[in-house]
Amino acid sequence: MIDGRTQLVGLIGWPVEHSLSPAMHNAAFAALDLNWRYLPLPVRPRATAEVQAAVHGLLALGFRGANVTVPHKQAVMKHLDEISNTARAIGAVNTIVVQEGRLCGYNTDGDGFVAALRQAHFEPAGRQALVVGAGGAARAVVHGLLSSEVERVTVLNRTLERAQVLVSEMGGHSGRLRALLLTPETLVEAASSPEIGLLVNTTTVGMWPQVDGSIWPESKTLPASLTVFDLVYNPLETHLLQEASISGARAVDGLGMLVMQGALAFVKWTGVQAPLDVMRAACERELRR
Ligand code: ATR
Repeated sequence: MIDGRTQLVGLIGWPVEHSLSPAMHNAAFAALDLNWRYLPLPVRPRATAEVQAAVHGLLALGFRGANVTVPHKQAVMKHLDEISNTARAIGAVNTIVVQEGRLCGYNTDGDGFVAALRQAHFEPAGRQALVVGAGGAARAVVHGLLSSEVERVTVLNRTLERAQVLVSEMGGHSGRLRALLLTPETLVEAASSPEIGLLVNTTTVGMWPQVDGSIWPESKTLPASLTVFDLVYNPLETHLLQEASISGARAVDGLGMLVMQGALAFVKWTGVQAPLDVMRAACERELRR
């Protein structure tokens, strides 16, 4: 029951109506009998004044925090009182926590990715990885991997310059990160190196409604030694993951990362451990609707 003591969090983004996060978090609150609610908070794009008003509105309305999604993950940053080193390095905030009247920004995407990877029994420390894509999601994944002592990451992107910018901003100097132009040939060649243990798709290729798309060329077999992680979760089993399973590689869907980044935000807001199984089940229910 919503009453005068109900604590509020929400999702700032546009559009938000298809987001799984409200169902995921509200299921978690219900399972733990917490008097909290998670609301969709649509904030129009290209309305800078509204992003500021929305963020300050969290304080004015006594919200405990919020998630932030596309297209406002960067735009909210200049309206916050504090930003974590991780969020600064990724260049985006996905979680706001109201702490003693101050707006604090975090990014749980990178750690959520690594947590999901470990849940799938892949330990990145000392391993080599290929990350396809160079957008915001790729930045979070690369940050998560570098923070967990991965040996080397190659970022492959259709637009090489974007991968080069990511690499130079995120630790190209360390020698652990390099950029490569994405073509079917470069991807197959890079993935065929026996040192590579992990292939991550951070692009939207394969996402509904273009479900037949795949970053991996049809005629080639995926190396069976790979763990293939697709950030896409709609559909849950993308064409890329089907190809991975057929070739004997380990396939990891994007719902694990969504749940883990949500769970990390949940703990920051409530101080309570998140019920992962409840959250995943709520997401799967929403996807089937
Ligand atoms: P996000 O913040 O979710 O990562 P984004 O910043 O729009 O989204 O980045 C999307 C990524 O998917 C980019 O790396 C994009 O490649 P470009 O930088 O060349 O645009 C990649 N991408 C999207 N569609 C693609 C396609 N059909 N083939 C290959 N890469 C694609």
